[in-house]
Amino acid sequence: MHPVLKTQLCELLGIEKPILQAGMGFVARADLVAAASNAGALGVIGAASLTLDQLREEIRKVKDMTDKPFGVDILFATYGKPSSDPRIEEFTDDVREQIDSVFKERVPVLASGLGNPAPVVPQAHELGIKVIAVVGNTKNAKRVAAGGVDIVVAQGYDGGGHTGRVGTFTLVPAVCDVINQPVVAAGGIADGRGLVAALAFGAIGVWIGTRFVASKEAFAHMNYKNKIVEIDDEATVRSRCFTGKPCRVIKNATTAAWESREAEIEPFPLQLMKISEELGDNAFELARLHGKIDLGSCAAGQSSALIHDVKSVADIVDDIMNEAEEILRKLSVA
Ligand SMILES: Cc1cc2nc3c(=O)[nH]c(=O)nc-3n(C[C@H](O)[C@H](O)[C@H](O)COP(=O)(O)O)c2cc1C
Repeated sequence: MHPVLKTQLCELLGIEKPILQAGMGFVARADLVAAASNAGALGVIGAASLTLDQLREEIRKVKDMTDKPFGVDILFATYGKPSSDPRIEEFTDDVREQIDSVFKERVPVLASGLGNPAPVVPQAHELGIKVIAVVGNTKNAKRVAAGGVDIVVAQGYDGGGHTGRVGTFTLVPAVCDVINQPVVAAGGIADGRGLVAALAFGAIGVWIGTRFVASKEAFAHMNYKNKIVEIDDEATVRSRCFTGKPCRVIKNATTAAWESREAEIEPFPLQLMKISEELGDNAFELARLHGKIDLGSCAAGQSSALIHDVKSVADIVDDIMNEAEEILRKLSVA
């Protein structure tokens, strides 16, 4: 492997390649996670859609399928507004239980896809667990960094799922400039070009979601995977209609219908219930399990434009690494 690709991320997490498969609700379950870890990347379970028993089951399945490190991504929802003191945050009971389960099972990596995991960092570290926090702007990067997380993922506007207002090209170097912790780049990265660009910005690796949805092992309906392959760079939209928070999804009849009803959208998490009532089913299950991609929530990023096939996780990881090596080889010749 090109020495540039053996980054601090590999050392920090005990992995071979500087690629993290992003935590994704409904989609990132044991098969995907174990495949990513077995491929030398880090697989991360998306806890968002799982009951406590299901989460425990997925963790144990991953342990049965790999001896490599893996993680769990939790949406660190709180009861109120974020605290001004990064060490104090009151997480909901569900979140608290998910965190306890990760601790009990000694999962090597805990990721927060939302909110600030600072209050649980000391306990995680006592147990030898690394903590990763995903942010969408420099303000939150500074907040989670002050809370002592090990790695900050800077996820730009291009990314699938909940996403902020700042583009990846600006966000990643800006976050590298304002914190001391290592930074991982996310949002719009699907191939070796993205990986090399991330390293050029000062990141130590990448956190990739959408590319892994279009994999054989992702827990998602084929209609959803094939749609990601079909669509171009303008086929996704950042809409609040499914969750109440800005979330990048594939445009469909539901996102179109809500464009003129913006004012009626409830805040998170009330909109989750409202939309499910309107659709007569869970908006996420509709698309991800039942294949009704014309109505349900299909989180996907702008990088869909770079994805042209559904293939195995091992092939995805290999292709990213090979392309990155080829670019680095060409750059060093120039
Ligand atoms: C289908 C899907 C589901 C997601 N669900 C979650 C989630 O439950 N928790 C979370 O922290 N982020 C979630 N995300 C965001 C990803 O963790 C990641 O930050 C994002 O996909 C990176 O951008 P990319 O899609 O351009 O690679 C999701 C993304 C996708 C595509």
